[in-house]
Amino acid sequence: MTDPMSELQKPLQETDRGRADASHLFDSSPSSPTQKAPFIALRDVTKVYRMGEYEVHALRGMSISIDRGEMLAIMGPSGSGKSTMMNILGALDQFTGGSYFLDDTDVNGLDPDQLAEFRNHRVGFVFQNFNLLPRTTALRQVEMPLIYAGVSKSDRMRRARKALEMVKLGDRLYHRPNELSGGQQQRVAIARALVNEPSIILADEPTGNLDSKSGAEVIQVIQQLNQEQGITVILVTHDRWVAQHTRRVIILTDGLAVADERIAEEYWLGRFASSSGQESD
Ligand SMILES: Nc1ncnc2c1ncn2[C@@H]1O[C@H](COP(=O)(O)OP(=O)(O)OP(=O)(O)O)[C@@H](O)[C@H]1O
Ligand SMILES: [Mg+2]
Repeated sequence: MTDPMSELQKPLQETDRGRADASHLFDSSPSSPTQKAPFIALRDVTKVYRMGEYEVHALRGMSISIDRGEMLAIMGPSGSGKSTMMNILGALDQFTGGSYFLDDTDVNGLDPDQLAEFRNHRVGFVFQNFNLLPRTTALRQVEMPLIYAGVSKSDRMRRARKALEMVKLGDRLYHRPNELSGGQQQRVAIARALVNEPSIILADEPTGNLDSKSGAEVIQVIQQLNQEQGITVILVTHDRWVAQHTRRVIILTDGLAVADERIAEEYWLGRFASSSGQESD
């Protein structure tokens, strides 16, 4: 098995400008002890997929605490359980054992109506392939979750516009997906995730289908939402550069969290000005 930390600790490439050793990325001081319950608490979470006779143990006892307002990256090899964990965090999928509390709510104890409410209002999802409707304007895509939530037309328009402005697409309201760049399409998807004012954004490889410049724009927008709106952000990525723009990196291997490191503040702050020409792995 490969050492999962080696991915992050490989010497960095051109964006590093003379800082070949990545050990400075991590804040070696332990996180301060806290009395209050964490915002998100997974405890010994297991997930077994049953395929007839065959069982896949996708999560094998995951315990993670996340505070409100954190921005963190989940990394790990293909099949290590990253998407499974995200689907559980977003209540899109049930887990087999353990517990999941969000803001003192026992997610396992929610009835179907409460689960629907949870998915619509507590979390916003962003996917690798954008999941936009073809032939539908940006404004309409972002308005859509509000239609399901029963919001009036005038409020929908106002909120959808505001969400698109937050992702810097105030000048693309009537563009359809095929009239937008990949990065712009992903930002429409982020606006759609935002419009119900969730407290958490869950993004599963949000830059996976983007070139490095568009990926940087998307990460910049996500960073701003985290810092300015206080939205908790959990993103899955295979890209070290993306992970370095979060504040914490959790590495999964074979359904377990095998590393949990904080990115030193002086490293992640204010990196964008010099990073627009970065190369992804
Ligand atoms: N619906 C499913 N039914 C059965 N097995 C599944 C299902 N979804 C995922 N798995 C299995 O669970 C394990 C974890 O899958 P998961 O999709 O969480 O991995 P991942 O870390 O997101 O990988 P990738 O980086 O390729 O997206 C894998 O072995 C996968 O084959
Ligand atoms: Mg996945």
